[in-house]
Amino acid sequence: MKEQLEGIRRRALAELSDHATAEAIEAVRVRVLGRSGELTEIMRGLRDLAPAERPLVGKLVNEIKSEVESRIAALQTNLRGRELERSLGEAKLDVTLPGMKIPRGRIHPVTQVIEEMLDILGEMGFEVEYTQDVEDDFHNFAALNFAPDHPARDTQDTFFLPGGLLLRTHTSNGQIRVLERRRPPLAVVCPGGCYRRDDPSVRASPAFNQIEGFMIDRHGRITMSHLKGVLTEFANSFYGETPVRFRSSFFPFTEPSAELDIHCLLCAGAGCPVCKHSGWTEVLGCGMIHPNVLRAVKLDPAEYQGFAFGMGVERTALMKLGIDDMRLFFENDLRFLAQFPSVNGGVR
Ligand code: PHE
Repeated sequence: MKEQLEGIRRRALAELSDHATAEAIEAVRVRVLGRSGELTEIMRGLRDLAPAERPLVGKLVNEIKSEVESRIAALQTNLRGRELERSLGEAKLDVTLPGMKIPRGRIHPVTQVIEEMLDILGEMGFEVEYTQDVEDDFHNFAALNFAPDHPARDTQDTFFLPGGLLLRTHTSNGQIRVLERRRPPLAVVCPGGCYRRDDPSVRASPAFNQIEGFMIDRHGRITMSHLKGVLTEFANSFYGETPVRFRSSFFPFTEPSAELDIHCLLCAGAGCPVCKHSGWTEVLGCGMIHPNVLRAVKLDPAEYQGFAFGMGVERTALMKLGIDDMRLFFENDLRFLAQFPSVNGGVR
């Protein structure tokens, strides 16, 4: 028995040489110390031995066991050290190199303009509601009092989608969507994307943004004077103290209708090619909400009145930022975008 044990010891230690691989070490551990390993088996058979022999064999087994265990532990520590050294040698780390500059994102100039407009309108008491870009004829046209044969309904102007749907051509659908689920008194603005079949050009884009706004209450509390007051105040906060004028206009969904002009920001009213020598630029459409629009959302026009307005964001942004080509907003060339650092460096 003693011989057998010494044999186990000799073989194990020979295999656990200084150059043993991790696999070789594991193989020895399993063969000698494992649950059905050589030493375990001998311990199990201990009771079959002569009583006098048992303590001696037991002692020897324990001795070999701890010898093999500590040899394995030493080899493993050694292996880990060599592995660490190897990986450190591989990755050459030069702590004197300058750090890498992480480029910082910015808020898109169009988004900045939208947020500035919403901030001003928000201070004036308007709530923000987002409504859908994919619409049906009712919410984009019919409820807004467009005649069945109105040219805007033509496939030349509007992107139609399968299933009687379309991409909204203006944010005025927001008036209908909001009034279908909420009752006045209300002062709401709806920002969002709009789509028209225009070729991209200096002054137009097939996808653009508008901000719609409306204010409605009962019993004649909201009048054309409120419309003029609110929009003049908005123009003065957003464009700076600039002369404004309301020019009468036409929209199917307002009556009376008007457009708001401000003094051309480029020539300050003197006349230049951009304002076609008129000294004025149009910034938004507005008017008193047409009785048929109120009826479409089941409000009695004898009881409820209000005004609405809608303004394009990109054209305004061009003027305000002094840019001469709308396509720059959609090309997303970082060299262009980087010229409009946002407040707080883009962190809001
Ligand atoms: N929807 C109009 C447009 O796209 C703007 C508008 C909105 C006019 C609300 C009057 C009232 O031009």
